[in-house]
Amino acid sequence: MTTPTIELKPSSNPLSDAEREAILASPGFGRHFTDNMVTIKWTEGRGWHDAELVPYAPLSIDPANMTLHYAQTIFEGLKAYRQPDGTVATFRPEANAERFQTSARRMAMPELPVDLFIAACDALVAQDRAWVPDSGEASLYLRPFMFASEVGLGVRPANEFLFIVIASPAGAYFPGGVQPVSVWLSEEYVRAVKGGTGAAKTGGNYAASLVAQAQAASHGCDQVVWLDAVEHRWIEEMGGMNLYFVYGDRIVTPELTGSLLPGITRDSLLTIARDLGYTAEEGRITTEDWKRDNENGTLTEVFACGTAAVITPVGSVKSERANWTQGDGAPGQVTMRLRKALLELQTGHAADAHGWMHPL
Ligand code: PLP
Ligand code: COI
Repeated sequence: MTTPTIELKPSSNPLSDAEREAILASPGFGRHFTDNMVTIKWTEGRGWHDAELVPYAPLSIDPANMTLHYAQTIFEGLKAYRQPDGTVATFRPEANAERFQTSARRMAMPELPVDLFIAACDALVAQDRAWVPDSGEASLYLRPFMFASEVGLGVRPANEFLFIVIASPAGAYFPGGVQPVSVWLSEEYVRAVKGGTGAAKTGGNYAASLVAQAQAASHGCDQVVWLDAVEHRWIEEMGGMNLYFVYGDRIVTPELTGSLLPGITRDSLLTIARDLGYTAEEGRITTEDWKRDNENGTLTEVFACGTAAVITPVGSVKSERANWTQGDGAPGQVTMRLRKALLELQTGHAADAHGWMHPL
């Protein structure tokens, strides 16, 4: 089967410069979308076909669409950044394309070729490049996703899928800016088990997390920290972010057990931290380790990382049984140094030593 080329049929009625500029002045996260989107179909026996860039518009969904019932759907998140010379580059799109394939395999969906994933993102960013903010750490967030488009109520892998990329200008994910977040250790609810879908970026993981997120909010916390599903004590990750624990000049992130998402920011930071002279490791940390090492002062900082959230310090921790301030509750030096290094790389203010930037 051949890989289709993307036919360009952009909007003839894009938002005016003034309207777009007003949005870019304060984009928030995931609230506004650009003028166009890319859609590609997959049909059993035919493969990928009808790849096109078209005006952003609502979809018409049959009430018996299989995704609405059985949630055969996956997504990705990556960002395009304005570079100092005015050009635009995305960060590690191949890594997102590969994770999209891994998610597809787990969810019994067809694998989109890496080149086509990247071509779809490139086509949208090139068409809507005026939407890439040019201030500070703001970016254009790309949301590639795929879902079963077949109609029917039989429980089996669908034989038709739709892949779409949409784009949304992004300011800070947390409206408070770089302020430490408070986290809730979820001991009642679990996110994922080994053999489940935790390592796939699939909608059901997020749906299942919402009740715990509401519980966190009812305890005055911003985010949920997920623990392993068996012993309820090994730290896994957060709702949309991975975690790092800073022990002086050694940073440790929970190892990939199969039930947490292999974050691309997490992976990048293992390398960036080593470049900066830190020891960076994957390891296993329990809630008791966290509390004890914070109290004895060896655990100096904790931060969360992800595409949407970049790097966000953790300032306080709560559970049914405990409640503590992480360090002095303020953003730590190592956290902020890594944050700066990552953003400098992404916005073209530091050398791209590992060939991670993908210029358009
Ligand atoms: N964990 C979860 C559950 C996520 O949704 C995300 C966001 O994509 C991450 C971790 C961080 O992954 P990445 O750094 O690839 O954005
Ligand atoms: C991302 O960082 O890209 C995410 O997917 C996190 C969240 C918005 C789901």
